[in-house]
Amino acid sequence: DSTIDEARDGMFLPLRRALHGEPKSRKLTSEGGVVWLTGLSGSGKSTLASAAAKALSAHGMRSAVLDGDILRRGLNSDLNFSACDRHESVRRAAEVASMLANEGLIAIVALISPLVQMRAHAREIIGDRFREIYVKAQLSRCEAADVKGLYAKARRGEIAGFTGISAPYEAPLDADLVLDTDAQTVGQCVSALASYVELQFVAS
Ligand code: PPS
Repeated sequence: DSTIDEARDGMFLPLRRALHGEPKSRKLTSEGGVVWLTGLSGSGKSTLASAAAKALSAHGMRSAVLDGDILRRGLNSDLNFSACDRHESVRRAAEVASMLANEGLIAIVALISPLVQMRAHAREIIGDRFREIYVKAQLSRCEAADVKGLYAKARRGEIAGFTGISAPYEAPLDADLVLDTDAQTVGQCVSALASYVELQFVAS
């Protein structure tokens, strides 16, 4: 009986609020989708991906981050940085992202995915829920910051085939969204990305 249910719910409301906090004013229903962040090492992909996931979650949207560096510790631990293995890492991430999107999640992928052909393959696997996001940063700035010290190592010849130094990076020419991390703050990029996701994947 719905009246009894409502009365019982009403009785437990203070407890529910104490346990779970105030209910969110608006819960967004995502149709599932993939935002694929491509960019040089150190361009800000991982930072933006995790911050965007938090921003989406604050709006009640479920998302999952697939980060190249982290995937390479597990799912992709058998792969190196040859063009062939990078292509395979992109393929695997695309397959997983596609499954997540099918479950209604927003998959936020952060992979260098350096070649146009690799990203085209990801788009082919994922289909019309794929959006390519270019995390744009000058090589000189990534190298100057060199957060992980990998650029210096690459320059010294200690890492072969390092993207931007001794391996190519083909910037997207027709990205769905460009986040210029040289010109904009992290906050500005995150809010641009979160707004874009809502616009693209949330049923109004
Ligand atoms: S790829 O090209 O999409 O397969 O690369 P990805 O899986 O995203 O892995 C990139 C991270 O691996 C570290 N690393 C290298 N990057 C580029 N080239 C070479 N040779 C290399 N060796 C190790 C590097 O920390 C990258 O992390 P990010 O987060 O991009 O800086």
